[in-house]
Amino acid sequence: MAKEKIEPELVEHSGLGRVKLDFSPSNQSFKVPPGVSVFDAASWNGIAIDSTCGGHGTCKKCKVQITEGIVPISRLDIRAFSQEELKNGWRLACVARATENLAITVPAMTTRPKAATVGVGRQVILRPAVQKRYLELTEPTLHDQRPDIQRVTDGIDDLEVSVEFEVLQKLPTILRKNNFKVTAVIVDNLLIDIEPGDTTSSRFAVAYDLGTTTVVATLLDLNSGTPVAVKSMLNKQQPFGADVISRISATMLDATALQRLREAGQSTLNELTDEVIQEAGISNLNVYEVAVAGNATMIQLILGVDPEPVGVAPFITATQSWPVLNAKEFGLAIHPQARAYVFPSFGAYVGGDIVAGVLASGMDRDKRVRLFIDVGTNCEIVLSDGNTILTTAAPAGPAFEAASIKCGMRAADGAIEVVKISKEGVTLQVIGDVEPQGMCGSGLVDAVAELAKIGVLDQSGRFVSQEVLEKDFPNLSNRLITLESNEKAFLLHGDKEDPLVFLTQRDVRELQFAKASIATGWRLLMEQLNLNDEDIQQVLLAGSFGSYLSPASAIQIGLVPKIPVMRIVSAGNVAGEGAKMVLLSQPERNGASALLNEVEYVELSDRADFNDKFVLQLGFPI
Ligand code: FES
Repeated sequence: MAKEKIEPELVEHSGLGRVKLDFSPSNQSFKVPPGVSVFDAASWNGIAIDSTCGGHGTCKKCKVQITEGIVPISRLDIRAFSQEELKNGWRLACVARATENLAITVPAMTTRPKAATVGVGRQVILRPAVQKRYLELTEPTLHDQRPDIQRVTDGIDDLEVSVEFEVLQKLPTILRKNNFKVTAVIVDNLLIDIEPGDTTSSRFAVAYDLGTTTVVATLLDLNSGTPVAVKSMLNKQQPFGADVISRISATMLDATALQRLREAGQSTLNELTDEVIQEAGISNLNVYEVAVAGNATMIQLILGVDPEPVGVAPFITATQSWPVLNAKEFGLAIHPQARAYVFPSFGAYVGGDIVAGVLASGMDRDKRVRLFIDVGTNCEIVLSDGNTILTTAAPAGPAFEAASIKCGMRAADGAIEVVKISKEGVTLQVIGDVEPQGMCGSGLVDAVAELAKIGVLDQSGRFVSQEVLEKDFPNLSNRLITLESNEKAFLLHGDKEDPLVFLTQRDVRELQFAKASIATGWRLLMEQLNLNDEDIQQVLLAGSFGSYLSPASAIQIGLVPKIPVMRIVSAGNVAGEGAKMVLLSQPERNGASALLNEVEYVELSDRADFNDKFVLQLGFPI
């Protein structure tokens, strides 16, 4: 049984090693960072513990019994349990901090929380920060002269709320106009509004994946935990440059650019928000919270915070963790007191989108050796060996977005997205099934991988000679052309006289540089954890580009470790999934913050061995 020992409620994290929690009767064991509450640890792993306050220490429903290990008795425990119960190890899970290995018995639930499925096969228990309580209050009398606000807060007995000034302004009128029948709207224990009558069925939030190129908004019904509408569009900041560095440069060259970038970003979010609200047919005033997952530069730009220090060495962000903001800071036309949760970032170039992605993929609560790669102009890499999690950023340049490629284009109608090449010929798959106009990133990777596989590109990335081609690949021999610039190229569409879409030797080089930068990143992380290729049990390819990439081609060019293709998973928009999770579940939000203590950021730019390793990664694996 747990030994009795009265201590302060909060216990600091006690180091980097994880502690093991054995839950019964489910017979599940998990390793978690020390200092995490038993309630959060259970929630992250899909074990439901009774609660109506979402882990805020007010409902006293989260009773668990610690049968092995020590959990100090908190002040709340003293109020919730008898001396006998305390002696027998009973504790409130939301204040019980796991600082050593514990065995925990979770009683059967009396109130059953709903669960929602999000992320890469993850389930979260539905406990949003946005709460609504319908109140039928007794009217004041000379014998009951409690102030209006006390009448309301007394009616919300399972939450300890503080009050927005705007609520007090309207409170006397709204109570009396509605015969004291109102709905209290609370976000994370802050009373943000009192609405007439019963509005508990309308409770919404919007999750944003604020990408440099594309922005995605998902409207969530917080009562059911389901997405109601999803929309995406190109970020309106595009005219200032395609990547974060060019947008930062724009602010350095023109004093008005930061404000214009802010407005463009806000306009993007607002347009998407309008679209999802319209599609769902709800009122914008019923959206009470938003979550924003974006890289550090995108967040600073949209909040009007000077991004210059992010762009130049030593690469410093304004903050790692943002306070909870009013959604007005994002220019959003939703409920005027709506809150905005902004994901923290691991570093200047591993931002909140990656924190959200790691949260969604559950890498921090998985014993498998997993590698997460978000492929883009700036590539973010996360590696976990089941105990230690490392992350880094690798500057890949624009090759994967096909921006620096001779016949490159965005993934739009007319872009070659899949290429198959054999000794017999070339097969193309084109977006929109129209005449090919160029190739997008996945088409580029396929073309290079296929040519390397059959040997038209040698291991160093050079096209073989015309003589070798004619001898070994007669059906392809008229596809190797020499451009006016004297550069060699492989023809994908058109003919020698009129080459329409082709892959040049320089394009191959561009891709080699980009993939070598990424491969050097994960190789260095793997070395730090003493891992070999075959140790990697899963590679998650994240982000809009990663999701379209052919796993076989990624292995062929050495973008990912040489492992069976089945171990490579397209993770899709994991940043957006993480943003949904923190809106649906407060314990998951705590999990996102805990990641900052769990994940170690590795800076590559000052590594003396980087260049040597980079050169080794330039060729294609044999
Ligand atoms: S008191 Fe409500 S969850 Fe612990």
